[in-house]
Amino acid sequence: MSNSFYITTPIYYPNAMPHVGTAYTTIICDVVARYKRLTGYDVKFLTGVDEHGQKIQEAAEKNGYTPQEWVDKMSLNFINLWKELGISNTDFMRTTQERHIKSVREIIKKVNENGDIYKGEYWGKYSVSEETFVPENQLVDGKYMGKEVIDVKEVSYFFRLSKYQDALLKFIEENPNYIKPEGKKNEVIAFIKQGLQDLSISRTTFDWGIPLELEEGHVIYVWFDALTNYITAAGYGENPEKFAEMWTNGTVNHVIGKDILRFHAIIWPAMLMSAGLKITDTVAAHGWWTVEGEKMSKSLGNVVNPSDEIKKYGLDPFRYYLMREATFGQDADYSKKAMVQRINSDLANDLGNLLNRTIGMQKKYFDSKVILKEEVDTFDIEIKELWAEVVKNVEIKMNDYQFSEVLKEIWRFISRMNKYIDECEPWKLAKDENSKDRLSTVMYNLVEASYKISVMISPFMPTTATKMAKQLGLDIDFDKLQLSNVLEW
Ligand code: MSP
Repeated sequence: MSNSFYITTPIYYPNAMPHVGTAYTTIICDVVARYKRLTGYDVKFLTGVDEHGQKIQEAAEKNGYTPQEWVDKMSLNFINLWKELGISNTDFMRTTQERHIKSVREIIKKVNENGDIYKGEYWGKYSVSEETFVPENQLVDGKYMGKEVIDVKEVSYFFRLSKYQDALLKFIEENPNYIKPEGKKNEVIAFIKQGLQDLSISRTTFDWGIPLELEEGHVIYVWFDALTNYITAAGYGENPEKFAEMWTNGTVNHVIGKDILRFHAIIWPAMLMSAGLKITDTVAAHGWWTVEGEKMSKSLGNVVNPSDEIKKYGLDPFRYYLMREATFGQDADYSKKAMVQRINSDLANDLGNLLNRTIGMQKKYFDSKVILKEEVDTFDIEIKELWAEVVKNVEIKMNDYQFSEVLKEIWRFISRMNKYIDECEPWKLAKDENSKDRLSTVMYNLVEASYKISVMISPFMPTTATKMAKQLGLDIDFDKLQLSNVLEW
């Protein structure tokens, strides 16, 4: 194994503006990336845009642009928003890039050499909005996921997905950490067991895609193209050393929304198997956000724009809220009331109070200098034991994508430290000449705990963490810091 930890978001269709759902996925990846950097991994973090396909071509035409002009313009919305959200991605994929076209051609060549591509005819329904072929039995009132479908009848090349049915089931069974969370894994297994059909992987009725080399007039199906982006960025077909380190020998994680799990946990691993490549270590699927109890949609006019939210509440509170409010894998509701409550109670009251009281007393009693003359009490032992427990639990829950639980753990420690102040009553100690040593110990512990908390929250709230450390008189570069440095008390 290499020390590489590679995490990816889906590549978003640049047609629509980024919203709270896409921001959520991207922030999850950012939190994990930052945490993994803290624990010593060489982290690569990929996000990007999915620029080909019928949906993009139609939108470009509707707006009076060529598809390339359209994606050049629209992808900036994502690039700019990720900057605004403090996203620490190390790469940004655009599927119109030359490196990606090369990598898609390479994987098609490998899959074809393996005998998994054949020519046929696709005849059936297609959802342009989801860019997916829709079996009749998945239509509800003639629609798919509430949207119109079109009839498609075209000559097409197919990928022998059905051939991988048993191998996929075996792989999922043998790799319990492959699909997270557990419930989603069972859905995938049930779906595969119903029987997989071969997948049409070329289209001929429009031309905005990567041309299929096997026959002129065919462009590669946009999902076959898009999924390949994950290996493109790892150097597939271009840089074998990088690929070995990042993909074959590294840890690879895809974070996605639940609606695109089948593409990632059925089609993608089958493509990788066919091309003789390692399968992703983890595919983690999160739930969807509703807004004030309603489905978020353009037609309802309730799409949450992350930029506006940051202006209202601040960047770190927005990041904190998303990670704290949702249970990973389940749907969550974005509500103003809950946001305000979290800011007031968790951030201002619990965290803010601890920090302000600590800094205030430290200045008052010791002119902001940390002096340790140890005079230990049982409370001190309790907080140190709790810290050790919190660090352990955070690691377990972080690796299991249980972010809300991670934050609850950290907040358990914050609350304990607030209680510690009340128990130790530094204001009383300060009045008693004989308690100076005890006072210095208490204040030392408070400063040390606040510092440790700042490190622990830094993946979630990087700006707040840096500010906290500064207020404590510490100049810390969180990107270089290692968690191991703050484990010991
Ligand atoms: N282009 C494909 C992904 C290709 S990955 C090889 C795509 N793009 S998308 O822009 O339509 O959606 C991207 C992500 O946004 C999906 O993971 C989807 O689950 C997520 N979300 C869209 N609406 C959402 C919510 N309301 N809430 C949470 N996430 C949601 O699919």
